[in-house]
This record gives sequence, structure tokens and C-alpha cells, in this order.
Amino acid sequence: MTTKHIACIGAGYVGGPTMAVIAMKCPQYRVTVADTNTSRIAAWLTDALPIYEPGLLEVVQAARGRNLFFTTDIAGAIREAEIIFVSVNTPTKTFGDGAGKAADLQYWEKVAREILREARTDKIVIEKSTLPVKTAQIMETILNAEGGRLHFEVISNPEFLAEGTAVRDLLHPNRVLIGSRETTRGLIARQEIVDIYANWVPAGRIVTSNVWSAELSKLVANAFLAQRISSINSISALCEKTDANIREVAHAVGMDERIGNRFLNASVGFGGSCFKKDILNLVYICESYGLSEIARYWEAVLTMNEYQEQRFVRTMIREMFNTMVGKRIALFGFAFKADTSDTRESPAIYVGRKLLEEKAVVVITDPRALENARLDFAGVDGRIHFAEDPYDAARGAHAVALLTEWELYRSLSWEDIYQSMEKPAFVFDGRNILDHKRLHEIGFNVYPLGAPPLTHFHDRGARRGGSSGY
Ligand code: NAD
Ligand code: UGA
Repeated sequence: MTTKHIACIGAGYVGGPTMAVIAMKCPQYRVTVADTNTSRIAAWLTDALPIYEPGLLEVVQAARGRNLFFTTDIAGAIREAEIIFVSVNTPTKTFGDGAGKAADLQYWEKVAREILREARTDKIVIEKSTLPVKTAQIMETILNAEGGRLHFEVISNPEFLAEGTAVRDLLHPNRVLIGSRETTRGLIARQEIVDIYANWVPAGRIVTSNVWSAELSKLVANAFLAQRISSINSISALCEKTDANIREVAHAVGMDERIGNRFLNASVGFGGSCFKKDILNLVYICESYGLSEIARYWEAVLTMNEYQEQRFVRTMIREMFNTMVGKRIALFGFAFKADTSDTRESPAIYVGRKLLEEKAVVVITDPRALENARLDFAGVDGRIHFAEDPYDAARGAHAVALLTEWELYRSLSWEDIYQSMEKPAFVFDGRNILDHKRLHEIGFNVYPLGAPPLTHFHDRGARRGGSSGY
């Protein structure tokens, strides 16, 4: 059997793990991951990988040097490969037409032009990045700009992995989606990609479709997931007014099989590099097709997320006697979710900034994301500190705000933390993972999300504006 060559342009959170799993599961393919970022590529070649993902190092070690290679030689990787995955970043545009909403396709287009320039043989080019529906058409136009010297077949194979569970998601995906043109060549290319995944994914979980459905399904999946979080977060605000408990409501609602119980955890807000940008992208696409009602509908998911972040900080300020000046506030967790070092769009960034605006002293602790947190606050004055150890972060603090659901925060000695803090001591649980009753017994004033606060104050109702008021 002749070895097939796969290239992946973009060695980030998607390109790296996805290609490592393909290489591990398909020894008959030679997989080369190429990126312009030299330090990232250098890190992929060591055991200090550029991203933290449970189980990833073992997967990389199983294939690296055997049939998995990392390089900055983009041109060489393109020339060698019959199949090219493109997994570069597609952030929200920050300039010009569509700024703040449309996807910035400059990196993708640059790669398409590079493929055209370097290719000496026909290629299957795969959209692994998340892209607006109809991008494949633009890519075909660019790739065929030299009048058909070579044939380029564009396939959409969006990625559904979540950070923190990337390896598990890649090894046991709910589905792999492969969209192609429904022409003879399109269907042949589609089958080539099906054949890769068929090495470990059950046939029933490999779904094929036309290329536009695949592109759109990715945006819609993220929009639906984010919508669930905004829905439960909206109800958390109502719970706080009515003394209902969001955990009990989510449990009761989620037991309906038609609704399902996952993705119903109220939180300080969703973060991550994709939900916001993909919904903005969906909104922009709807607007560009004149579907303004649909655009407004999906935009509300983002509005609700911003409201939830703002509401969280406002509660802190109000309950801490309307002044944060000089108060030390420990942020427990900075990653946008547990089990990742990624802080992109983390609600903790918003909370930290707002507290600094209120002239608080902010101490950030996180088991994996401190390095990124330092970058997020680069250039900020001396009122921000970083602590590896959560006990150090909490020492002398007026409040702890729990912002990432790291398992370790459940098992801390909260008695010791309480002893070391200023009194009255506050805990604002932005993930609802702590034992609130126990914390209250220790002496904390506890503010869960979507549930009545447990305080040692007698005038709580007055300061909240009436706990049962509408
Ligand atoms: P990332 O920023 O971590 O990685 C992108 C990489 O592409 C960077 O290392 C960058 O240097 C490289 N790059 C950019 N232009 C290049 C060029 N011209 N040549 C070579 N390399 C280039 O991004 P990511 O999180 O991996 O996301 C990539 C895409 O996958 C995005 O479209 C995103 O929406 C989508 N996605 C991300 C996730 C996730 O969990 N992060 C999940 C599913 C889909
Ligand atoms: C999400 C999707 O889950 C992936 O399927 C998708 O591939 C990816 O986006 C992408 O396109 O980038 P990710 O952002 O890595 O994955 O992580 P999620 O588990 O979806 O969490 C996103 C945010 O929602 C986190 O801040 C998380 O804490 C929050 N969240 C999640 C809640 O607040 N409540 C929940 O019940 C679930």
C-alpha cells in the first residue's frame, strides 16, 4: 500500500490534537502539521506541548517521529500532501466592513493562495476551520484562478471537539461531518476523507452532506449550545428574585428526555474562542441575506451572556457594601472552563477588568492558565497579582470569586481559607460547584448563582432590593 500524505496548516487547539489522533489511528498516512508560528512548532516537538489537554501528550508521543511531523515549512508540506486540512484561526473581523461581526478570512485566504502557488499535483483541500456558509465557493474561486492547471476539491469537515475533552471527543466523536460537492469528483474526495475517519469512528457516526450543510451545521451547533447556556443563565436571574433554585430547576427540566440534562449549568457566562465569534458570524450572515429578525434572535444569546457577566460583578459590588476600593479579591480560576489553559473570551477577563475599574486589588489563581492570564493583563498596573496556590491567593482577601469549575476547588480546606481572610468573608460561586451550606456554616457569606444567598447579615433583603420583590 502506498503511503498517503496529509498536511494540516495550522497547529493550534484544533490542528494539533486532530492530526495527532489521525496519525495515531492511521499509521498508513504520513501526517505533517505546519504553522508559521515557530515557537508553537518548537513546542509541539517537545513534551511541553503548546496547549494543555488531558491525554494529548500520550497521543502525540505515540505517533511523533513515526508518521506525525511538525514543521514551519508550509510550502514543503503543501507540495508533499494529497490531502490538506486547513485549521487556521478565523477570528471576528476587527476592521472595515462587517467589523465586530463577520469572520476575518484573511488567514484562510492566504493559505488558499499558498496552496495554489506551491501545488504541483491535484489536492483535496479540507475546511477544518469554522467558516461562514458558502466559503467553499470562495475557496474554489481562488484555487481555480489559474484556469484549471490542477484540480482542487474543497471539502468541509468542521471540528466539534471541546477544549479540555479534545482527546476524548476526537477518539469517540458524536459524529464526524463531511460535506462535499455532489459531483463525481466531489463524491470521490468525500470518500477519501470518510476512509481516514473509518479507521476508528463507527460508520454510523460518519455523516455526509452537501458542502453548504456541513459549513452551516457547525455554526448552528455552536449557536444551539450557547443558546442553552444563555437560556439557563436567564432563568438563574429569575431564580434569584423568586427564591427558586436554578440547580433544582435545571434538574427537573433536564429530566425531560426531549430537553436532556447536559449543558444546563448556570454560570458567570460562557467563554472560549468560538461561541461568541461563531454566533456573531451567524448574525452577520443572516443580516447579509436580509434576515434581520433571525439575526436579532441569535444576537440575543450574546446579549444574555454579557448581561450575566455584568450581573455577576454588580452583585459582588452591591453585596460588598457598594465599594471595592482597596479590597483584595481572589479570582479562583481564570481559564474559560476547567481542564484547559485557554483563557480566550474567558468571563474571568471581564470580571477582573471590572474589579480593577472599581479599584479593587485582584489576585488570580488557576492551576493551568496563569501564563495566559498574565498575558491578558499585560501592562496593567500593580493592583493585579498572580498566585499558583489558591490558599496564597485567598490570604487577606475580602472575597473569593470562583470563576472556573476546576475540581480541585471543591476539595480545598475552606475552613483554612476562611481563617486567613478578612471578615466579613464572601464567596461568589460563579459555577455553582461548591457546598454552599457548608461554606455558610464555616462563616462565609455565600452567593450562589440562581439561588438565595446564605449570609450572616440581618438586612440582606433591604440591600438586595427585597428578596421576593418583582
Ligand atoms: P489557534 O489560534 O489555536 O490556531 C490557529 C493556528 O493557525 C495558529 O497557530 C496560527 O499561527 C496558524 N496560522 C494562521 N495563519 C497561518 C498561515 N497562513 N500559515 C500557517 N499557519 C497559520 O486556533 P484554533 O483554536 O485551533 O481554531 C482554529 C479553527 O478551528 C477556528 O476556525 C476555530 O473556530 C475552529 N474550532 C476551534 C475549536 C477549539 O476548541 N479551539 C473547536 C472547533 C473548531
Ligand atoms: C465548544 C463546543 O462545545 C464544541 O463542540 C465546539 O467544537 C467548540 O466550542 C468550538 O467550535 O470551538 P468549547 O468552547 O471548547 O467547545 O467548550 P464548551 O464545553 O462548549 O464550553 C464553552 C463555555 O460554556 C465555557 O465557558 C463553559 O464553562 C460554558 N458552559 C458550558 C456553561 O457555562 N454551562 C454549561 O452547562 C456548559
